[in-house]
Amino acid sequence: MNILIINGPNLNLLGTREPHIYGNMTLNDINDKIKTEFSKNKDINFEFYQNNIEGEIINKLHDSISKVDGIIINAGAYTHTSLAIADAIKAVQIPTVEVHLSNIYSREEVRHKSFLSTCCIGQISGFGCYSYILAVYAIIKHLKNL
Ligand code: DQA
Repeated sequence: MNILIINGPNLNLLGTREPHIYGNMTLNDINDKIKTEFSKNKDINFEFYQNNIEGEIINKLHDSISKVDGIIINAGAYTHTSLAIADAIKAVQIPTVEVHLSNIYSREEVRHKSFLSTCCIGQISGFGCYSYILAVYAIIKHLKNL
């Protein structure tokens, strides 16, 4: 099972970026925590990808066709603006879970709208690094038809 975890703009600055909202863990810390949590699942391969540029995220989604079984994406602020990323998720037809560290519905109204939610199998928002871990469990459940 190949699982691609995509992080969008500004998530490379986790650890120092608005820690009262996003916590103190760096993106590497989060990725390590995911690897540790699933270290016993020898059938899972993770690929971690971060990019600040919308078109690069779209290219990465296109590149995953026939290579990746499931995608987890935190598109950062592109969540609320990018019809293009939403279209790419639809186009590649790979089951995708949307995640957010913060609870986007308890924040400013502009963050309540997600362009990605209609093309993802589900969304997890508000649990910090555990949003990603819950998303991995969700994608496994989906891929194994549990
Ligand atoms: C975020 C929420 C977005 O609104 C914000 O622009 C981010 C991070 C989150 O993980 O909580 O960059 O996706």
